[in-house]
Amino acid sequence: MRILSGITSSGECHIGNYFGAIRQHVEFQEKGEAIYFIADYHSMTVVRDASERRRLVREVALDYLACGLDPERAVLYRQSDLPEVCELTWILTSVTPMGLLERSHAYKDKVAQGLPVDHGLFAYPVLMAADILIYGSDLVPVGQDQKQHLEMTRDMAQRFNHIYGCEVFQLPEPWILDDVAVVPGIDGRKMSKSYDNTIRMFWPEKRMRKAVMGIVTDSTPVEDPKPTDSTLFQLWSLVAVKSEREEMFARARAGGLGYGEVKKDLFKRLLETFGPMREKREELAKRPDDVEDIFASGARRAREMAAPVVAAARDAAGLGPGA
Ligand code: ADP
Ligand code: TRP
Repeated sequence: MRILSGITSSGECHIGNYFGAIRQHVEFQEKGEAIYFIADYHSMTVVRDASERRRLVREVALDYLACGLDPERAVLYRQSDLPEVCELTWILTSVTPMGLLERSHAYKDKVAQGLPVDHGLFAYPVLMAADILIYGSDLVPVGQDQKQHLEMTRDMAQRFNHIYGCEVFQLPEPWILDDVAVVPGIDGRKMSKSYDNTIRMFWPEKRMRKAVMGIVTDSTPVEDPKPTDSTLFQLWSLVAVKSEREEMFARARAGGLGYGEVKKDLFKRLLETFGPMREKREELAKRPDDVEDIFASGARRAREMAAPVVAAARDAAGLGPGA
C-alpha cells in the first residue's frame, strides 16, 4: 500500500500541525510504503522570498525528522527535486475544465475576500493532483480542508483516462483525518500560522512560556468552578493522559483551581513531551548536509517510482517519439 502526503512549507510547524498531522504521518510509516514531500512548489503561492523558501524547507524537514519521521522507512524528499511533477501538471491541466477549478474553496475564499489571486493559486489543485497521481498512490491522508482537492484529483485522473482511452492513472482514496480535533490557538481561534496564535513545539523555553502564559482565559475567580471546555483545558488535555484529565477536570469543577497553575503545568508538560524531539532536532540542525543527503536519496527513490507513470502518461498522450 502506497501512502502519500505533501507538507506545504509555508511556515514553521506548531503543535496544531503536530497533533493534527505530523503525529499521524509518523504513524503511517508503519502501515505501508509512505512517501512524504516538502511542497516547496506549492509554497510559491504564499512565500515570495527565495532564501525564506529554502529556510522553511529545512525547518519543516527538521521538524518532521525530529518528530519521528524515519528516512530509512519512509521516503522524504523536496518537491522541487522532482520537476517531472510539473510536466505531469501540464498534462493534467489540458484535461481540467475551468469550471472544476472555479469551484475550488481555496480560490473562491480568496476571491470572496477581495484578495488578489494569481494563476498559481487557481491551478494549485492540478499540481496537487500531479503530486498524487505520479505514484499511483493508494491512500492520501489529509485534513478535512483538503478533501475537495482529492475529489478533483479523481476527476482529473478519470478525464485523462477517458480522453486517451487508457488506465494510466489510478484513482486515489482520500483518508480524511477528521477524528483529529482542531487544536485551538492561544487566542481561542483555530491554531494557525496565519493567525499568529501558535505555540511552536521547538521554541526556546522563554518564548514558549510567554505564549502559554498568554493563552486566553475568562475572569472566573480562583475559588469558583471552571468550565473544562476552554481553550486552556483543550490545550492542556493534549499533553495529559485520561486519568490525569479526569483528576484535573474534577478539580476545575470543584473550584479553587487557578488558571495560572494550569498554565504552569501545561508549560512543563510541553517541555517534557517535546524534550526528546527537541534534542534530536538540535543534533540534526548541526548537520545540514545530512538533511540534504536525505532529500537526495528520497528524490532518487521518488523518481524511480514516478518514472513508469510519467512515461505511460506521455505515451498515452502522444508526447515524444513513442515506442
Ligand atoms: P496552518 O493553518 O498553520 O497554515 P496548514 O494549513 O499548513 O497549517 O496545515 C498543515 C497540516 O496541519 C494540515 O494537515 C492541517 O489539517 C493540520 N493542522 C493545521 N492546523 C491545525 C489545528 N489547529 N488543529 C489540527 N490540525 C491542524
Ligand atoms: N495542499 C496540501 C496542504 O495544504 C499539501 C499538499 C500538496 C498535499 N500536495 C499534496 C497533500 C499531495 C497531499 C497530497 O495541506
